[in-house]
Amino acid sequence: MAVKPWGGRFGQGTDALVEAYTESVSYDRRLWRQDIAGSRAHARMLAKQGILTGEEADTIVGGLDAVAAEIEAGTFMWQVGLEDVHMNIEARLTELIGPLGGKLHTGRSRNDQVALDFRLYADEALGDWGDCLKGLVEVLVDRAGEHTETLLPGCTHLQPAQPVSLAQHLLAYAAMFKRDFERVADARKRVRVSPLGAAALAGTTYPLDPLYTAEAVGFETAFTNSMDAVSDRDFAAEGLFCASLIMMHLSRLCEEIVMWANPRFGFVALPDAFATGSSIMPQKKNPDVAELMRGKTGRVYGSLVSLLTTLKGLPLAYNRDMQEDKEPFFDADDTVRASLRIMAEMLKVIGFRAERMREALSAGFLNATELADFLAARGLPFREAHHVAGRAVALAESRGIGIEALSLAELQELSPLVDADIFHTLAYETAVARRSARGGTGPTPVAAQLAELRQWLTLP
Ligand code: ARG
Repeated sequence: MAVKPWGGRFGQGTDALVEAYTESVSYDRRLWRQDIAGSRAHARMLAKQGILTGEEADTIVGGLDAVAAEIEAGTFMWQVGLEDVHMNIEARLTELIGPLGGKLHTGRSRNDQVALDFRLYADEALGDWGDCLKGLVEVLVDRAGEHTETLLPGCTHLQPAQPVSLAQHLLAYAAMFKRDFERVADARKRVRVSPLGAAALAGTTYPLDPLYTAEAVGFETAFTNSMDAVSDRDFAAEGLFCASLIMMHLSRLCEEIVMWANPRFGFVALPDAFATGSSIMPQKKNPDVAELMRGKTGRVYGSLVSLLTTLKGLPLAYNRDMQEDKEPFFDADDTVRASLRIMAEMLKVIGFRAERMREALSAGFLNATELADFLAARGLPFREAHHVAGRAVALAESRGIGIEALSLAELQELSPLVDADIFHTLAYETAVARRSARGGTGPTPVAAQLAELRQWLTLP
C-alpha cells in the first residue's frame, strides 16, 4: 500500500473501498503536463525567493523532467493508492531525487495545485475550441460564397415564409460561431489567473511571489484572494457554458442537415464518407453524424449542470466535492473539439442541391409578403394590403397554383392597385434582391457580411 503524505497523524491505512472511492488519478492523470509545468514554475519561484537554493531547484526541475519522460514513455507506474496526479508525481520525484523532492511542496497545497492544473488545462482547451470555431466559420464563409445566388425557402415555425439565399442561411451560423469564438476568448481571460501561492486556503507565511509563478506558467496574473483562489471553479463553469452554447448552435445546424437530407426536402446530398447505412434496409443513407452531434449536446449540457450543482452548496474554501469538477469538463472538451472538427469537415464536402431548393420555392406562397408590400407602396394601408394578399393566397391555393400564376385580371379584381409590374415583384429573385438593407438576404448585405467575416478571419 502506498505511503500517504498525511500519514503522520494516522494510525490505520485507508480502507480499500475508500481508496477506490476517493481516487481521482484514473482520470486526473490527464493533467500530468500541467502538473509538472506548475511544479517547475513553483520550484523556480522558490529559488528566486531564496527559499530553495538554485542548485536544489535545478535538481527538482531535472527530476520533474525525468518523471515527464517516464510518463511520456508509458513506463510511469500510476498508483491508485497515491490518490491523484499530484501525489503520484511528487512521490515519484522523491523516489528519483531523494528527500529534496519533499521541499517542492513548500508554501503549496494540492488545493492550489489542482486549481492551477485545471486552469492550465482549461486554457488550452478553450484555445483549441477557438481555433476550431474559426475553422468552422471559414468553411461556412467559403460555402456561403459559392451560394449567394442559390435561393431556398426561409422558414418561421418551420413553415415557408420568405425566400432567402443559401448564403444568408449559412452566414447566420457563421455569425453564431463567431460569437461563440468571442465568448470563449473572453472566458479565457478569467481562466488565465494563477492560484499558486494561495497555499491551502489562507495564503502563506513564506515570502512567495505569486506573480512570478503566474508568469512562469504563461498566465498574465495571479489570484487576489487566497480563499477564492482555491475554491473558485466558475472559470470551468463558464467554459462549460460556452461549450453548451457551441453545442446548441451545432445541434440546430444538425437538425437542419437531418431534415434537408430527407428526400422530401432533398436540399443536401450527404457525402458517403459522412453517412452510414442500415443493416437491413439497403436503400438507407443516414445522417448519423448530425444526429449524434445533436444527441451529444445533451451530454454537454449535463456537464454544465453537473458542475453547477456540485458547486452550489459548498462553503469556503476547498471541499472534496470539487474533485467532481474535472470529469464533466474533460468529457465536454472531448465532445466539443470532436464535434467542431467533424462539422467543419462535413460542411466542406456536403452537396447543396440548388435545384431542389429552387423547386421548393414554389410551395408555400413565399411571395405573399411581396404582394402586400406592392399594394402598401401604392398607398393601401398595410393591414388592408395584408388582407388582399391573403385573399390572393386563398384563391391561388384553391386552384393549386402560386400567386404568380394568377392572371393580371384576377389580381386586379382583388385590388385595382395591381398593375403588370406585379409579376416582376412576385419573382423570388426580386424578393431576395430587394432586401438590401443592412443584414438582409439581398446581394449587397450578403456581400458585406462575407467581406466582414473574411476580414475577421484574417485577424490573429
Ligand atoms: N484530487 C483533488 C481534486 O481533484 C486534489 C486536491 C485534494 N486536496 C485535498 N486536500 N484533498 O480536487
